[in-house]
Amino acid sequence: MSVPEKIRSEVQSLRREIERHNHLYYVLDKPEITDEQYDRLFRRLQDLEERHPELRAPDSPTARVGGPPAGQFTPVRHSIPMLSLANAMDEEEMVQFDARVKRLLGREAAVAYLAEPKLDGLSVELVYEGGVLVRGSTRGDGITGEDVTANLKTVRSIPLKLKARKGVGPPARIEVRGEIFMARKDFGDLNRSREGQGQVPFANPRNAAAGSLRQLDPAITAARPLDGYFYGVGEVEGSIPGTQGELLVFLEDLGLKVNQERRRCRDLPEALEYFGRLASLRTDLPYEIDGMVLKVDRFDLREILGATSRSPRWAIAYKFQAERATTVILDIAAQVGRTGKITPVAVLEPVRVGGVTVSRATLHNQDEVDRKDIRAGDTVIVQRAGDVIPEIVEVRTDSRKPGAAPWRMPDACPACGSRVVRVEGEAAHRCVNMGCPAQVRERIFHFASRHAMDIDGLGRKTVSQLVDRGWVETPADLYFLTKERILDLDLFAEKSGDNLLEAIENSRKTTWPRLLYALGIPLVGSHIAGILARRFPSPEDLKKASLEDLTGTEGIGPGIAQSVRAFFQEEKNLRILDRLEKAGVLPEAVNGPARQDLAGKTFVLTGTLNGFTRDEAKERIEDLGGKVARSVSRRTDFVVAGTDPGSKLEKAVELGVRVLTEDEFVKMLEGKSR
Ligand code: IVH
Repeated sequence: MSVPEKIRSEVQSLRREIERHNHLYYVLDKPEITDEQYDRLFRRLQDLEERHPELRAPDSPTARVGGPPAGQFTPVRHSIPMLSLANAMDEEEMVQFDARVKRLLGREAAVAYLAEPKLDGLSVELVYEGGVLVRGSTRGDGITGEDVTANLKTVRSIPLKLKARKGVGPPARIEVRGEIFMARKDFGDLNRSREGQGQVPFANPRNAAAGSLRQLDPAITAARPLDGYFYGVGEVEGSIPGTQGELLVFLEDLGLKVNQERRRCRDLPEALEYFGRLASLRTDLPYEIDGMVLKVDRFDLREILGATSRSPRWAIAYKFQAERATTVILDIAAQVGRTGKITPVAVLEPVRVGGVTVSRATLHNQDEVDRKDIRAGDTVIVQRAGDVIPEIVEVRTDSRKPGAAPWRMPDACPACGSRVVRVEGEAAHRCVNMGCPAQVRERIFHFASRHAMDIDGLGRKTVSQLVDRGWVETPADLYFLTKERILDLDLFAEKSGDNLLEAIENSRKTTWPRLLYALGIPLVGSHIAGILARRFPSPEDLKKASLEDLTGTEGIGPGIAQSVRAFFQEEKNLRILDRLEKAGVLPEAVNGPARQDLAGKTFVLTGTLNGFTRDEAKERIEDLGGKVARSVSRRTDFVVAGTDPGSKLEKAVELGVRVLTEDEFVKMLEGKSR
């Protein structure tokens, strides 16, 4: 049965109307109707589409809520590589950049630039065909990204359809590039709600944006407040203007969201002045930026300048210095870790640095405190660069209050009052009591952590409460928790309680190296756990291992051997293992030799990975028999490229070495691809 023409045209006009209001609201920030009026239009459209499914269309505003979850992301090769930008560290390097541009262009006259804020998000490419959004992808390694179309469609400021421009239709095909980010306020709201549900908060808006965009279930992305600004194009069929300034207006006319904060600069001095303005504006902007991008304005000049395999010669990123702030040390606390190690931590008068509030900074150990001569009450300068842990870079001893005493490690553990000792030759002080509640809490927290048993939703606060109430003393107790008890904790409701129970349940099925790492044996990190699990394929084998068996294993030194031996000689620990077994925690037996999928393969790592530190990535490769090399050569099998990859990526492309995105790398580790 065909749909009456009247309905057809109503649907069409509703779509146009809703997209117009989306644009007014999400792009121009100038709504013309109330939320209720908008909802009514939206529901009417949903209703009609439900009654006439043949009218459904991928570019309908209702299609934004997300399609079915993807099993994995499909790789997308960018038709023109998405390059990165060269960095300038200081004004001197900016002067050099400007001089090189002029030299390459063979001119002495000033070159005009367009300066834009450098957004701290992740770059994406949108492809519009006949004005309709057909594909959206992440930058990936610049050559190949991931197809995240369904997710990008949920971003309200991204038009599903481009608008006509002064009566002229959009280009036949256009690839648009820009940055997806999360506004600071939205980030704060999201994290508060996550914490309320016992979920781990995101470290910063960039991670939140990246994590949200790379969800396999678009419905999750749809619920995240993502936004985007567009600033460039890839391949275009159709004509585009001749300068960056005009291109931005062009994109805006097509209905794309463009940052209004930008400036055309007639020469470098103007650009440097604008950089100063951006720096002072930085903390007031609703989104995070980490510098300025300076681009030669004229496209014909860009053409002459060209690009290296990494970055265009016509643009440069001038990054802000690592942010520093002055604050006061309120107290120096002694924090007890899972192995009993006691770490001095500066408790700070909370201060905003680089977009986050910092209220603690580690001081590492007594020697470090002595060396920097840090005392409670001191005025200090804290620095935070990128995602790194904040550190104290300077103590203002000139303004020290008279009578401020040097800090001394306490003789008694602050958590349990037991003796604190410093082992000969070690920088660390330790609490001698294995049953110390602080140690118990940290051990459980470690047990649940991502590279151990990976129990999502079991944060420090929750563990703390479980330990304080006496419900959990050892990791095995987690598996005997009841729903009543979980619901009795702060921060848990029906749904989040179920989620936690499910996460605990799921963790029963694990691997022996993970379980071994999770036990938290001193000196046994995930790499060592992998070696031990290969040599001693079951808990029983390891329990029986003598000191000689252990030291006879390649990669296991006498210190580790001692530590492992001592652990398995301790009656308490054996009881925990028994109870874990009773709880049904069954490590997948390492039958015969462990997986050696990567044997004989050489990897080179470049750029920052989201899910691992460099060391962790290296360990995982080595666990599977692979090797990690420092530089790329013809013998390299794979280059793993994270964000902001270095010249190693360039070299890999040049030598034709296979480049893996982080996702492809993870799949390889999990044995899901070759
Ligand atoms: S233009 C050829 N403009 O910075 C590269 N990039 O380090 C052209 N970025 O991957 C990029 N704000 O994710 C450009 N206003 C801006 C930007 C910007 C942030 C990011 C982008 C790119 C990275 C390069």
